[in-house]
Amino acid sequence: MCSPNMKIVLSLLVLLGLYFFSDALDLYRHRSHEKRYYRGYKVLRLYPSNSEQLRLLHDLAESENSELDFWLPPSSVSRPVDVMIPPERFHQIKHLLTANHIQQEILVEDVDKAIENEKTPAPYSELRSTSSVFFTKYQRINDIHNYLENLAAENSPIASILSIGKSYEERDLKAIKISKETSNDKPIIWIDAGIHAREWISIATAVYIAKELIQNYNSDPDIKSLVDTFEWYILPSVNPDGYEYSHDYNRMWRKTRSVGTSVWGCIGVDANRNFGFKWNQGGASSNPCSDLYAGPKAFSEPETKAISEFILARKNQVKLYIATHSYSQLWLTPWGWTSKLPDDYDDQYNLANIAVKALNSVHGTKYQIGSSTNLLYIAAGGADDWAYGVAGIKYAYTPELRDTGRYGFVLPASQIIPSGEETFAAVKAMALALKNELSRGLI
Ligand code: ARG
Ligand code: ZN
Repeated sequence: MCSPNMKIVLSLLVLLGLYFFSDALDLYRHRSHEKRYYRGYKVLRLYPSNSEQLRLLHDLAESENSELDFWLPPSSVSRPVDVMIPPERFHQIKHLLTANHIQQEILVEDVDKAIENEKTPAPYSELRSTSSVFFTKYQRINDIHNYLENLAAENSPIASILSIGKSYEERDLKAIKISKETSNDKPIIWIDAGIHAREWISIATAVYIAKELIQNYNSDPDIKSLVDTFEWYILPSVNPDGYEYSHDYNRMWRKTRSVGTSVWGCIGVDANRNFGFKWNQGGASSNPCSDLYAGPKAFSEPETKAISEFILARKNQVKLYIATHSYSQLWLTPWGWTSKLPDDYDDQYNLANIAVKALNSVHGTKYQIGSSTNLLYIAAGGADDWAYGVAGIKYAYTPELRDTGRYGFVLPASQIIPSGEETFAAVKAMALALKNELSRGLI
């Protein structure tokens, strides 16, 4: 059918095609190492008021390569949706929304400006002690690690550093252990943060919690009793590769930085869809280019694998598991994979209520409590569901920290200390309540 000449022409064409394709791929990969700017990007808050409007937003969110970044994905008619829109798409999207009578409000006028604003450090005059200077800005991973190292070295009787594994790019997954060594099977409280790279406030807040526990050991009898009773493990940055990438190249990066086999050169996995419980069974994507990519298999990411191994090796000791995120001011309970409520929901709710009340008493910040699916959306493969469903840790939570959307992910650095103060109060109140349950033999 095909003459030899034609065969040659065809193979040449194929080769040429491959050449351009790999070039495009290279270009794409290269581009991901150039800094992204968000000049003129806006964040709109939308209020879907019926199921058609909600469906439209779902469709928009699911259409790939739409260049829209749903800071808060559509969930239910009663909950707002936050979406970041590039300038060149703004009028078209705005038109679509208006034509469908979806109520809108501008949340962030210019994301680039918000990112600049985020860097403004808290004024030193507001600080109660010089040791707080660290918390006036969002620190890089090496500075966080150094800070923790120093904190541990200066308080060696109650604190030490450990690495629970390495990230994809081989950064240490550095945790601080806070405990008065009395026996080696004390109940454990686990706190992590930063599994989503762009949720910077969660990382700063986790470090703040470590600092509070250590520095108030001698002056606050409650804190002393908590450090004496529990072994605390705090891992402020589950996803250090993503965190660094969000500083250097793309402030809105969410995923890990693992390089898969995606032909489009897409990088990273949503580590909070990567845990091995109901993996990829809803609210997650099989598309490597999606921000909700669940990964090629459960625990494909070294970061989630390291956590699961660390926890499973101590699972009977772990009494509280807190996976810190931002934003929305929610204290989320399981489940995230189904709208059904777990048997332990009442107990889980009551402990969350203790947390939220204590949190509110510090700066008046309001949080809502509820299961992830009911308050947000279905999302299977999350750390909290795995901690509860597989490791059997009854009290597993995902707090979504400040704010409710005024700044979203780009919360000004001046809010690090207030966020730290109130979240620490929440954690302290929970731990005291747990200590009480322990002493009564309830857990
Ligand atoms: N915003 C978080 C996320 O999308 C919520 C996770 C809640 N937990 C869950 N298992 N879905 O990852
Ligand atoms: Zn998150």
